[in-house]
Amino acid sequence: MKNYRIAVIPGDNIGPELMKAALAVLEATQKVDGGFTLEFETCLAGAAHYTEHGTAMSDEAIAACRAAASVFKAPVGDPAVRTPEGIEAGLLGGVLRTGLDLYANVRPVKLYPGTPTPLHGYQPGGIDYVIIRENTEGLYASRGKGVGGPNAMADTMIVTRAGTERVVRFAFEAAKKRNGAPADGVRRVTCVEKSNVLRSFALFREIFLEIAGEYPGVEAETIYPDAAAQALVMNPAHYDVLVMENLLGDILSDLGGGTIGGLGMCPGGNIGDQYAYFEPVHGSAPDIAGLDIANPASQILAGAMMLDHIGEESAARRIESALWLALEEGELSIDERGRANRGTMSAAEAVIARI
Ligand code: IPM
Ligand code: MN
Repeated sequence: MKNYRIAVIPGDNIGPELMKAALAVLEATQKVDGGFTLEFETCLAGAAHYTEHGTAMSDEAIAACRAAASVFKAPVGDPAVRTPEGIEAGLLGGVLRTGLDLYANVRPVKLYPGTPTPLHGYQPGGIDYVIIRENTEGLYASRGKGVGGPNAMADTMIVTRAGTERVVRFAFEAAKKRNGAPADGVRRVTCVEKSNVLRSFALFREIFLEIAGEYPGVEAETIYPDAAAQALVMNPAHYDVLVMENLLGDILSDLGGGTIGGLGMCPGGNIGDQYAYFEPVHGSAPDIAGLDIANPASQILAGAMMLDHIGEESAARRIESALWLALEEGELSIDERGRANRGTMSAAEAVIARI
């Protein structure tokens, strides 16, 4: 029987509640599946860790993440915990995304049943695309490195050929494994870039079009980010896979969340050639910490993405189907503010009952 050691980062604020709910779902899944076991190793990291130890994550915890089969992370950070330079201190993007070279940030946007979308006329599954956010360069290349002084600051955006080629290829490979856009079943990769203004985006676009030539079975198109923000609201069913620079992916993935019942429905994977970790797209929501109302769907779906990534595809599908059913049958209900109004843990129990 296969045994996977999973590094678990319970995170800050709502993090531990979400993690408890999602780990219960993973435990139930491994029991029913019977073909593998998961061994969880807790790694403390985040804003609370920074307050106590002066770093967001210890070297030992980073080593544990490298040694594990995969990493399962809850939201970290707290807007109140900042570095002397004024940016949030408890975040792990620098050590994990950049440090482990996890260049593809995979962010599915899918409309599940029973979720309060502000858009009209969409059936469950009628919105189903995935944003592939470049995760190691772009504007975030300047993370912690901005230059200037009190009257002016500059953060430089870096787009490299190697960095763009690998993430664009990742997007086309993802499209090959999917079933196409909900509107027309066409496998499609959309590149979002601002090449009407900035040369870095012109390079991103040029490389995208080059690589697109290697994938004749997948339609390729480009769109400017301002137009994309409108299109993802007015015509989301057209989209299948989108690939874009880091900050654009940060912004548009939250926009996508707003169309499918909130970020509580949004899992993400940070994937490189050697390592990967899986987490909700959203933050640690200090305002609702400890209230048992955070929607655990994002964390549960992140767990399913992790299983899929390590090769336990059928267990991953089992979790997704159970969540779908729990939502469809109203046992897991999400209110207009994106909260699980029957409670975080009872939402997980509703999923477990359907595993
Ligand atoms: C995300 C988050 C992070 C980001 C923050 C917390 C640094 O918003 O994962 O989308 O901007 O990448
Ligand atoms: Mn974000």
